[in-house]
Amino acid sequence: MAVALVLAAGLGERLGLGRPKALAELAGRPLWQWSVDVLRRADAIERIVLAMPAGQVDVVQTALSQAMGANAESTREPSVAASRAPSVTVVAGGAVRSESVRRALAAAGEGGDEGLVLVHDAARPLLTVEIVQATLAAAGREGVDAAIVATPVTDTIKQADADGRVLGTLDRSELWAVQTPQVFRRGALERALDVPAEVLAEATDDAWLIERTGGCVVIVPAPRENLKVTTPLDLQLAELLLARQDAAPVVGHQ
Ligand code: CTP
Ligand code: MG
Repeated sequence: MAVALVLAAGLGERLGLGRPKALAELAGRPLWQWSVDVLRRADAIERIVLAMPAGQVDVVQTALSQAMGANAESTREPSVAASRAPSVTVVAGGAVRSESVRRALAAAGEGGDEGLVLVHDAARPLLTVEIVQATLAAAGREGVDAAIVATPVTDTIKQADADGRVLGTLDRSELWAVQTPQVFRRGALERALDVPAEVLAEATDDAWLIERTGGCVVIVPAPRENLKVTTPLDLQLAELLLARQDAAPVVGHQ
Protein backbone atom coordinates (compact mmCIF):
# COMPACT_ATOMS: atom_id res chain seq x y z
CA MET A 1 0.00 0.00 0.00
CA ALA A 2 1.15 3.54 -0.70
CA VAL A 3 0.51 7.15 0.22
CA ALA A 4 -0.13 9.70 -2.57
CA LEU A 5 0.86 13.36 -2.35
CA VAL A 6 -0.92 15.59 -4.89
CA LEU A 7 0.71 18.97 -5.43
CA ALA A 8 -1.67 21.77 -6.30
CA ALA A 9 -0.27 24.70 -4.34
CA GLY A 10 1.33 26.61 -7.23
CA LEU A 11 0.19 30.03 -8.40
CA GLY A 12 -0.25 29.17 -12.07
CA GLU A 13 1.43 32.38 -13.24
CA ARG A 14 2.12 31.09 -16.77
CA LEU A 15 -1.53 30.09 -17.16
CA GLY A 16 -2.43 33.64 -16.20
CA LEU A 17 -5.95 33.11 -14.88
CA GLY A 18 -5.42 35.49 -11.98
CA ARG A 19 -6.21 32.67 -9.52
CA PRO A 20 -4.50 29.41 -8.62
CA LYS A 21 -4.15 26.97 -11.52
CA ALA A 22 -5.60 24.15 -9.40
CA LEU A 23 -8.98 25.92 -9.47
CA ALA A 24 -9.16 26.16 -13.27
CA GLU A 25 -12.34 24.50 -14.56
CA LEU A 26 -11.58 21.65 -16.91
CA ALA A 27 -14.34 19.60 -18.58
CA GLY A 28 -16.65 20.20 -15.63
CA ARG A 29 -14.27 19.68 -12.72
CA PRO A 30 -11.56 21.81 -11.13
CA LEU A 31 -8.05 20.82 -12.26
CA TRP A 32 -7.03 19.43 -8.84
CA GLN A 33 -9.97 17.02 -8.76
CA TRP A 34 -9.06 14.99 -11.86
CA SER A 35 -5.96 13.31 -10.47
CA VAL A 36 -7.42 12.98 -6.97
CA ASP A 37 -10.36 11.06 -8.48
CA VAL A 38 -7.99 8.71 -10.33
CA LEU A 39 -5.88 8.08 -7.22
CA ARG A 40 -9.01 7.29 -5.21
CA ARG A 41 -9.77 4.50 -7.67
CA ALA A 42 -6.26 2.98 -7.48
CA ASP A 43 -6.40 -0.01 -5.13
CA ALA A 44 -2.83 0.38 -3.88
CA ILE A 45 -3.36 3.94 -2.59
CA GLU A 46 -4.44 4.01 1.05
CA ARG A 47 -4.21 7.72 1.73
CA ILE A 48 -4.03 10.97 -0.27
CA VAL A 49 -2.65 14.32 0.88
CA LEU A 50 -3.48 17.29 -1.33
CA ALA A 51 -1.34 20.45 -1.06
CA MET A 52 -3.34 23.56 -1.99
CA PRO A 53 -2.65 27.30 -1.72
CA ALA A 54 -3.26 28.31 1.92
CA GLY A 55 -6.44 30.27 1.09
CA GLN A 56 -8.11 27.26 -0.55
CA VAL A 57 -7.58 24.55 2.08
CA ASP A 58 -10.93 24.82 3.88
CA VAL A 59 -13.11 25.21 0.81
CA VAL A 60 -11.48 22.25 -0.95
CA GLN A 61 -11.65 20.01 2.13
CA THR A 62 -15.39 20.77 2.37
CA ALA A 63 -15.93 20.09 -1.36
CA LEU A 64 -14.10 16.79 -1.00
CA SER A 65 -16.14 15.65 1.98
CA GLN A 66 -19.34 16.38 0.04
CA ALA A 67 -18.07 14.65 -3.11
CA MET A 68 -17.06 11.55 -1.15
CA GLY A 69 -20.53 11.24 0.33
CA ALA A 70 -22.08 11.57 -3.14
CA ASN A 71 -19.63 9.08 -4.69
CA ALA A 72 -20.50 6.43 -2.14
CA GLU A 73 -24.02 6.37 -3.55
CA SER A 74 -23.04 6.76 -7.20
CA THR A 75 -23.48 3.81 -9.54
CA ARG A 76 -21.10 5.34 -12.09
CA GLU A 77 -18.15 4.95 -9.72
CA PRO A 78 -19.03 1.85 -7.68
CA SER A 79 -15.37 1.14 -6.81
CA VAL A 80 -15.11 4.42 -4.91
CA ALA A 81 -17.47 3.26 -2.19
CA ALA A 82 -16.85 5.09 1.07
CA SER A 83 -15.64 1.91 2.78
CA ARG A 84 -12.67 1.51 0.41
CA ALA A 85 -11.89 4.99 -0.83
CA PRO A 86 -8.67 6.42 0.60
CA SER A 87 -9.02 9.42 2.87
CA VAL A 88 -8.02 12.79 1.42
CA THR A 89 -6.35 15.37 3.68
CA VAL A 90 -5.87 18.91 2.42
CA VAL A 91 -2.87 20.93 3.62
CA ALA A 92 -1.36 24.31 2.77
CA GLY A 93 1.58 24.03 0.38
CA GLY A 94 4.81 26.03 0.56
CA ALA A 95 6.48 28.77 -1.47
CA VAL A 96 8.35 26.31 -3.71
CA ARG A 97 7.28 22.92 -4.98
CA SER A 98 9.66 20.86 -2.82
CA GLU A 99 8.39 22.68 0.27
CA SER A 100 4.86 21.64 -0.72
CA VAL A 101 6.11 18.03 -0.98
CA ARG A 102 7.69 18.31 2.46
CA ARG A 103 4.51 19.66 4.04
CA ALA A 104 2.29 17.05 2.37
CA LEU A 105 4.63 14.26 3.48
CA ALA A 106 4.57 15.56 7.05
CA ALA A 107 0.76 15.29 6.97
CA ALA A 108 0.81 11.74 5.59
CA GLY A 109 1.11 10.14 9.03
CA GLU A 110 3.50 7.45 10.15
CA GLY A 111 5.05 5.13 7.61
CA GLY A 112 8.01 2.76 7.45
CA ASP A 113 11.30 3.63 5.77
CA GLU A 114 10.50 1.23 2.90
CA GLY A 115 6.87 2.35 2.39
CA LEU A 116 6.05 3.86 -1.01
CA VAL A 117 5.14 7.52 -1.49
CA LEU A 118 3.70 8.62 -4.83
CA VAL A 119 4.16 12.30 -5.71
CA HIS A 120 1.97 13.74 -8.44
CA ASP A 121 1.46 17.23 -9.88
CA ALA A 122 -2.21 18.18 -10.01
CA ALA A 123 -1.20 20.06 -13.17
CA ARG A 124 -1.28 16.63 -14.90
CA PRO A 125 -5.00 15.84 -14.88
CA LEU A 126 -4.74 13.01 -17.47
CA LEU A 127 -3.26 10.59 -14.96
CA THR A 128 -4.62 7.03 -15.23
CA VAL A 129 -4.91 4.11 -12.81
CA GLU A 130 -2.62 2.13 -15.15
CA ILE A 131 0.16 4.73 -14.86
CA VAL A 132 -0.21 4.72 -11.07
CA GLN A 133 0.06 0.93 -10.89
CA ALA A 134 3.04 0.71 -13.27
CA THR A 135 4.99 3.34 -11.33
CA LEU A 136 4.27 1.75 -7.95
CA ALA A 137 5.34 -1.65 -9.29
CA ALA A 138 8.64 -0.27 -10.65
CA ALA A 139 9.44 1.53 -7.39
CA GLY A 140 8.70 -1.63 -5.41
CA ARG A 141 11.56 -3.55 -7.08
CA GLU A 142 14.65 -4.48 -5.10
CA GLY A 143 17.35 -1.81 -5.04
CA VAL A 144 15.19 0.93 -6.54
CA ASP A 145 14.90 4.24 -4.63
CA ALA A 146 12.53 5.97 -7.04
CA ALA A 147 10.53 5.29 -10.21
CA ILE A 148 9.58 8.18 -12.45
CA VAL A 149 7.18 8.43 -15.36
CA ALA A 150 8.68 9.81 -18.56
CA THR A 151 8.07 9.90 -22.29
CA PRO A 152 10.72 9.58 -25.05
CA VAL A 153 11.74 12.94 -26.50
CA THR A 154 10.39 13.27 -30.05
CA ASP A 155 11.93 16.65 -31.01
CA THR A 156 15.59 16.99 -31.94
CA ILE A 157 17.24 18.74 -29.01
CA LYS A 158 20.08 21.18 -29.56
CA GLN A 159 22.25 22.92 -27.02
CA ALA A 160 22.88 26.62 -27.59
CA ASP A 161 24.72 29.44 -25.82
CA ALA A 162 23.12 32.65 -24.55
CA ASP A 163 23.39 34.23 -28.04
CA GLY A 164 21.48 31.36 -29.65
CA ARG A 165 24.58 29.89 -31.25
CA VAL A 166 24.23 26.10 -31.49
CA LEU A 167 26.85 24.19 -29.52
CA GLY A 168 25.71 20.69 -30.39
CA THR A 169 22.92 18.18 -30.90
CA LEU A 170 22.08 15.75 -28.12
CA ASP A 171 21.52 12.03 -28.73
CA ARG A 172 17.73 11.84 -28.67
CA SER A 173 17.66 8.07 -28.15
CA GLU A 174 18.89 8.64 -24.59
CA LEU A 175 16.59 11.55 -23.71
CA TRP A 176 13.35 11.38 -21.75
CA ALA A 177 10.89 14.13 -20.88
CA VAL A 178 10.04 13.58 -17.24
CA GLN A 179 6.50 13.71 -15.89
CA THR A 180 4.78 12.78 -12.66
CA PRO A 181 3.86 10.55 -10.87
CA GLN A 182 7.18 9.83 -9.23
CA VAL A 183 7.25 7.11 -6.56
CA PHE A 184 9.82 6.96 -3.77
CA ARG A 185 10.81 4.81 -0.85
CA ARG A 186 9.66 6.97 2.01
CA GLY A 187 13.03 7.00 3.79
CA ALA A 188 14.86 7.95 0.58
CA LEU A 189 12.44 10.84 -0.04
CA GLU A 190 12.65 12.10 3.55
CA ARG A 191 16.46 12.10 3.41
CA ALA A 192 16.43 13.76 -0.03
CA LEU A 193 14.19 16.56 1.23
CA ASP A 194 16.32 17.11 4.33
CA VAL A 195 18.61 19.62 2.59
CA PRO A 196 19.10 23.42 2.73
CA ALA A 197 16.32 25.60 1.28
CA GLU A 198 18.53 26.74 -1.62
CA VAL A 199 19.00 23.14 -2.80
CA LEU A 200 15.24 22.51 -2.53
CA ALA A 201 14.51 25.67 -4.53
CA GLU A 202 16.77 24.37 -7.32
CA ALA A 203 14.85 21.08 -7.68
CA THR A 204 12.40 21.03 -10.59
CA ASP A 205 11.61 17.42 -9.78
CA ASP A 206 12.02 15.35 -6.64
CA ALA A 207 13.93 12.55 -8.36
CA TRP A 208 16.83 14.96 -8.90
CA LEU A 209 17.17 15.19 -5.13
CA ILE A 210 17.73 11.41 -5.09
CA GLU A 211 20.03 11.43 -8.15
CA ARG A 212 22.36 14.03 -6.65
CA THR A 213 23.15 11.67 -3.77
CA GLY A 214 23.68 8.63 -6.00
CA GLY A 215 20.28 6.94 -5.49
CA CYS A 216 18.82 4.49 -8.02
CA VAL A 217 16.09 6.14 -10.12
CA VAL A 218 14.34 4.17 -12.91
CA ILE A 219 12.12 5.36 -15.76
CA VAL A 220 8.60 4.08 -16.44
CA PRO A 221 7.53 4.90 -20.03
CA ALA A 222 4.21 6.74 -20.15
CA PRO A 223 1.94 8.14 -22.86
CA ARG A 224 2.39 11.76 -23.97
CA GLU A 225 -1.27 12.32 -23.09
CA ASN A 226 -0.18 12.65 -19.46
CA LEU A 227 0.58 16.28 -20.29
CA LYS A 228 1.17 19.14 -17.89
CA VAL A 229 -1.11 22.15 -17.92
CA THR A 230 1.28 25.10 -17.94
CA THR A 231 -0.05 27.53 -20.59
CA PRO A 232 -3.54 28.33 -21.96
CA LEU A 233 -2.83 26.04 -24.94
CA ASP A 234 -2.16 23.11 -22.58
CA LEU A 235 -5.45 23.83 -20.82
CA GLN A 236 -7.34 23.62 -24.12
CA LEU A 237 -5.60 20.38 -25.08
CA ALA A 238 -6.26 18.80 -21.69
CA GLU A 239 -9.90 19.85 -21.84
CA LEU A 240 -10.35 18.17 -25.23
CA LEU A 241 -8.69 14.95 -24.08
CA LEU A 242 -10.59 14.84 -20.78
CA ALA A 243 -13.94 15.53 -22.39
CA ARG A 244 -13.32 12.61 -24.77
CA GLN A 245 -12.28 10.33 -21.91
CA ASP A 246 -15.25 11.35 -19.78
CA ALA A 247 -17.69 10.67 -22.62
CA ALA A 248 -16.42 7.09 -23.02
CA PRO A 249 -18.60 4.46 -21.36
CA VAL A 250 -17.39 3.21 -17.99
CA VAL A 251 -16.81 -0.54 -18.28
CA GLY A 252 -15.70 -1.08 -14.73
CA HIS A 253 -12.78 0.21 -12.71
CA GLN A 254 -9.85 -1.68 -11.37
N1 CTP B 1 3.33 23.37 -6.91
C1 CTP B 1 3.09 23.30 -5.53
N2 CTP B 1 3.67 24.25 -4.71
C2 CTP B 1 4.45 25.21 -5.22
C3 CTP B 1 4.70 25.28 -6.60
C4 CTP B 1 4.13 24.33 -7.44
O1 CTP B 1 2.38 22.44 -5.07
N3 CTP B 1 4.95 26.11 -4.38
C5 CTP B 1 2.68 22.40 -7.79
C6 CTP B 1 1.75 23.05 -8.79
O2 CTP B 1 0.47 23.28 -8.20
C7 CTP B 1 1.72 22.06 -9.93
C8 CTP B 1 3.08 21.40 -9.83
O3 CTP B 1 3.65 21.75 -8.57
O4 CTP B 1 0.70 21.08 -9.81
C9 CTP B 1 4.01 21.78 -10.98
O5 CTP B 1 4.27 23.17 -10.94
P1 CTP B 1 3.95 24.19 -12.12
O6 CTP B 1 3.42 23.49 -13.29
O7 CTP B 1 5.13 25.09 -12.24
O8 CTP B 1 2.69 25.00 -11.53
P2 CTP B 1 2.63 26.47 -10.97
O9 CTP B 1 3.83 26.73 -10.11
O10 CTP B 1 1.29 26.63 -10.35
O11 CTP B 1 2.69 27.33 -12.30
P3 CTP B 1 3.63 28.61 -12.62
O12 CTP B 1 5.05 28.11 -12.46
O13 CTP B 1 3.26 28.99 -14.02
O14 CTP B 1 3.28 29.67 -11.61
MG1 MG C 1 5.83 26.70 -10.98
